[in-house]
Amino acid sequence: AGTVALAGCDTPGQTGEMVRSEVPIPEPFRVPLPVPPVKRPVRRDATTDWYEIVQRPAEVEILPGVRTQILGYDGVFPGPTIESRSGRRTVVRHHNRTDVPTVVHLHGGHTPADHDGWPTDLVMPLGGAHQHQSHHPGKITQGKRDYVYPLDQPAATLWYHDHRMDFTGPQVYRGLAGFHLVRDAVEDALPLPAGDREIPLMIADRTFAADGSLSYPAADHAGHTAGTMHDWVEGVLGDVILVNGAPWPELEVVGARYRFRVLNASNARRYRLTLDPPPPEGPQFVQIGSDAGLLAAPVEHGNIDIAPAERFDLVVDFSSYRPGQVVTLRNAFGTGDTRQVMRFRVTDRARDESAVPARLAEVTPLVPPEDAPRREFAFTRGVVGDRPGWVINGKPFDPERVDATPRLGDIEIWTFFTDLHHPIHVHLSPFQVLSRNGRSPGDLDGGWKDTVDLRPAEAVEVAIRFTGYRGRFLLHCHNLEHEDIAMMSTFETK
Ligand code: C2O
Ligand code: CU
Repeated sequence: AGTVALAGCDTPGQTGEMVRSEVPIPEPFRVPLPVPPVKRPVRRDATTDWYEIVQRPAEVEILPGVRTQILGYDGVFPGPTIESRSGRRTVVRHHNRTDVPTVVHLHGGHTPADHDGWPTDLVMPLGGAHQHQSHHPGKITQGKRDYVYPLDQPAATLWYHDHRMDFTGPQVYRGLAGFHLVRDAVEDALPLPAGDREIPLMIADRTFAADGSLSYPAADHAGHTAGTMHDWVEGVLGDVILVNGAPWPELEVVGARYRFRVLNASNARRYRLTLDPPPPEGPQFVQIGSDAGLLAAPVEHGNIDIAPAERFDLVVDFSSYRPGQVVTLRNAFGTGDTRQVMRFRVTDRARDESAVPARLAEVTPLVPPEDAPRREFAFTRGVVGDRPGWVINGKPFDPERVDATPRLGDIEIWTFFTDLHHPIHVHLSPFQVLSRNGRSPGDLDGGWKDTVDLRPAEAVEVAIRFTGYRGRFLLHCHNLEHEDIAMMSTFETK
């Protein structure tokens, strides 16, 4: 497809290049906000819930009147939402009926290494003719496999997505992403908005080719090593903003509090979210949770900067808007159409028994001891093969190399630094941000995080304690093009 790359940045606050759609872009706010279906278990017993998901191609209508081929969990994008209870084992059998090998990672899951979605532990397509050519050994299964999640962790907004080595960008772009919520008794006891006033919002940008297909610029990426990915080394930005798979949707709300679990599932795009107009009374957003669970106490924000893979659990109170008023969720980092995300239409006043209590959950600060082990990770441009790419401490990802060996139970201090934008994600255990450039963390850094928005010329220190499982896990940039062109590293817990 004859896509157009805009050199350098689409906007401030961004790393990536925008690809332009070749179909007419619809007027915003014409499509109602879809909510992903909640998946029902096929079986449950005293300890475990079993699910079955079929990964398959499907033709769906994303833009009104345009047919688009996706790869979806159960053929939908976003995939179905899984809801688990903390401490109950969840087993998901994934069937691969796609045309490519896949890997599933539960992002934010406290998961044993074997089930964490190691990038070469491929599930091969059922009956597919796909020749597996990787020289990297992995635990290959044919057609399906079970992922076992202990979910021994507090209530949080997790998500699952593809994690195949070298191909995570294109495979997530085609649609392989969904929510996985963990709930617990602490959350149940809070009077937060619930039911149809609790809505997950998956924000993702996409570009559409003339035939309606999703236009990943390195679509011929089977030859990734031949170099096409490297032309998109900065990251792929789309010109259509989707929320829950719909372009600039509209949601009718009553004048009451809503809880939105906001996930940035974009390959590379960062957003600065604001409400236009802001509510006549009260804050725009009250943050109640972060990536890996509820905050200790709510935090008010005027805008939310959200990098790829981050989650913000937000309460918005529509009660001070007039019935009939429309409120746009804007993106101050966007240009043109990408300056808006979705719209709310306030219908009526309504009874609201929800509240945001001043205390939410126990968040014990991780206080590193004087002699805490320290590790440093530099996220820079580098050479991958013989092409430009991205490296950590000078090295591209090699699944056979271990770069750090933290001991289970220790609190370590990890410092991430860079000269550009990189959302840094650590598998297995969440962390707390200790400092940014030697100063106290920003007001968006609170609580348990698994992804931190590393910005140009920043050094971010985090305290992290790995628990539970010995084995090899990943640390990587969640700009998916950066990740695929090798900005990933392995640590092995001992
Ligand atoms: Cu969201 Cu290693 O991934
Ligand atoms: Cu990066």
